Amino acid sequence: MGMKASPSSAHGRPGSLRRIVGAVGVAGVVATALMTAAPADAAASTLAAAAQQSGRYFGTAIAAGRLGDQTYTTIANREFDMITAENEMKIDATEPNRGQFNFSAGDRVYNWAVQNGKRVRGHTLAWHSQQPGWMQALSGSSLRQAMINHINGVMGHYRGKIYAWDVVNEAYADGNSGGRRDSNLQRTGNDWIEVAFRTARAADPSAKLCYNDYNIDNWNWAKTQGVYNMVRDFKQRGVPIDCVGLQSHFNSNSPYNSNYRTTIQSFAALGVDVQITELDIQGGSATTYANVVNDCLAVPRCTGITVWGVRDSDSWLGAGASPLLFDGNGNKKAAYNSVLNALNNAGPSPTPTTSPTQNPGAGQIRGVASGRCVDVPNATTTDGTQLQLWDCHSNSNQQWSSTSAQEIRVYGNRCLDAAGTGNGAKVQIYSCWGGDNQKWRLNPDGSIVGVQSGLCLDAAGTGNGAQLQLYSCWGGNNQKWTWNRA
Ligand code: XIL
Repeated sequence: MGMKASPSSAHGRPGSLRRIVGAVGVAGVVATALMTAAPADAAASTLAAAAQQSGRYFGTAIAAGRLGDQTYTTIANREFDMITAENEMKIDATEPNRGQFNFSAGDRVYNWAVQNGKRVRGHTLAWHSQQPGWMQALSGSSLRQAMINHINGVMGHYRGKIYAWDVVNEAYADGNSGGRRDSNLQRTGNDWIEVAFRTARAADPSAKLCYNDYNIDNWNWAKTQGVYNMVRDFKQRGVPIDCVGLQSHFNSNSPYNSNYRTTIQSFAALGVDVQITELDIQGGSATTYANVVNDCLAVPRCTGITVWGVRDSDSWLGAGASPLLFDGNGNKKAAYNSVLNALNNAGPSPTPTTSPTQNPGAGQIRGVASGRCVDVPNATTTDGTQLQLWDCHSNSNQQWSSTSAQEIRVYGNRCLDAAGTGNGAKVQIYSCWGGDNQKWRLNPDGSIVGVQSGLCLDAAGTGNGAQLQLYSCWGGNNQKWTWNRA
């Protein structure tokens, strides 16, 4: 039983290198692709590659207005694999007039990221700052409704395409109160934050939903405790929240403290991911940068780090603050080397809470290069149907579960199945029967490797309808996958 269609030449593809060059357009990637024989313990030479060794990302904020600057884009493309729009997805940018959405600048950042094989964090949907004038003038139930409409409008536009959204930004007060910040949103009622999160979950079930704030890095500060108590309460009551973003703008008034690791561990222990979302360190201490990175690496659920800009001259703090990893000429600073070394010293270690091997469950399998999900075309159950990429959604034809028998199942009884063992063999659904062509290794680097073939699950493109096949593993983002558990 179970002998299926032989490897179909109709689905054979002319090798992955051509596609990758087409998709990424950078000759250096070809060299990387050809050097798959590098020893596993070789130090990585970019921040992104170094972070990927432990299943994490390393990101930066990007300003659309700087995408014409070649020094800027060269560094950003080389070093980072997660992108946040510095201002372009904020409320004033995306809904300048009530009910009229404008995604032109946001899309420029999004498209640059995805065309270069990077993922995107969404920032931010509900915030007291950078509100358009019309929203600043609202209050009460009309402001509440405007917030809901805004979340639906922006998340709808980027549905299925965003790794994590900062749903609510900076809602807590500085100082010793541990309470909420006064704002027009807060005055609509204390439940505005949970309403924002519930709205966001429905608007895009595939995005992780984060609460993001500054001055919540020091475990002893009242503001940190206030946010911690809110997240604990949300988890207890089932309000949808997946992550906490520690902005981590460190300066003399808000310095790095060695209890930062306790803060990260404590949030993670509530059952949320922690992301360092806007890191900059006034003065750029290489030691402090290394401490921050090592604190994240010490906590499996600290899933990635984003710095708030590329070069010092790009920083919102001004170049004089010297807060980033590259100087104004684009040279690597001492802090860059200390971050890279810290990431390399972490070595390969899985992030258990996001690894389906250790925590089997139902969920989507999302391609890192595409942001799209493994999808059974037309929700068919027909054995032998080749799988494709499609915009992520929550229907059953994108809900996969890993089993202790190393299968990856859909619809309960159909398996992810390799119709052959060579490059280009199609990956399809087939009734589960226990064969090695239906067994897969889920690796910490995000690759999914066929037990029978030793080849990687590979997307032959990034668009809707791109087909899934086996291909020699080479470390590309078209062979990396993340699980979003439902
Ligand atoms: C900053 C941008 O970097 C600036 O360009 C803009 O003028 C103001 O906002 N916390 C946040 C970010 O969540 O959105 C802020 O970004 C920095 C502080």
